[in-house]
Amino acid sequence: MSLAVLVSGTGSILDAMVEAGLPVDLVVSDRPCTAVSRAAGHDVETIVVHRSSFGDDFDRDGYSALLADRLSERSVTLVAMAGFGTILSRPFHDRFAGRVLNTHPALLPAFPGWHGVRDALAAGVDVTGCTVHQATLEVDVGPILAQEEVVVRPDDDETSLHERIKVVERRLYVDTLWAVLDGVIPLQPTPGGAAL
Ligand code: GRF
Repeated sequence: MSLAVLVSGTGSILDAMVEAGLPVDLVVSDRPCTAVSRAAGHDVETIVVHRSSFGDDFDRDGYSALLADRLSERSVTLVAMAGFGTILSRPFHDRFAGRVLNTHPALLPAFPGWHGVRDALAAGVDVTGCTVHQATLEVDVGPILAQEEVVVRPDDDETSLHERIKVVERRLYVDTLWAVLDGVIPLQPTPGGAAL
């Protein structure tokens, strides 16, 4: 299996994956970002497929198709999104159906979307957490592979809570990826194609 990690942010989860010895073959970003510079410190091929080249209206299907091509050219078979900032559409998910993983900083199905940490805080929950799941065309609803709770502290703001969640994500995502690679956690078939 050939593993690609998709990033857009700080790349701390990517770092955790590489440091844990996961066989990351390719790092892909959709924009210049800290994760790309951090990836340069690892011995892993890194490419930027610029979303900014796809117009002010953002041609999502065009971008998704190009990204799928870039991964296919490199024989990627498993995709791990780790803070990737572009929602990918059908041309990508059709190609990689059942083989795309994501981590989300909330206990799905609670608080999907871009602001999972902020929304959990605003809802006043005592406990939130993170979810590793298979990504599908519909955002944050794919089969759940692993979850872990994080207690909300009375003095938490979005940054402090997100940082504590990310500490858990770095471990949970790594453990889940190992389990998937070892066949301990089977991937579910998802719409658009078969699982591994
Ligand atoms: C994680 O909390 C992930 O769930 C969210 O973005 C964050 C990525 O963190 N989608 P980093 O860029 O790996 O530090």
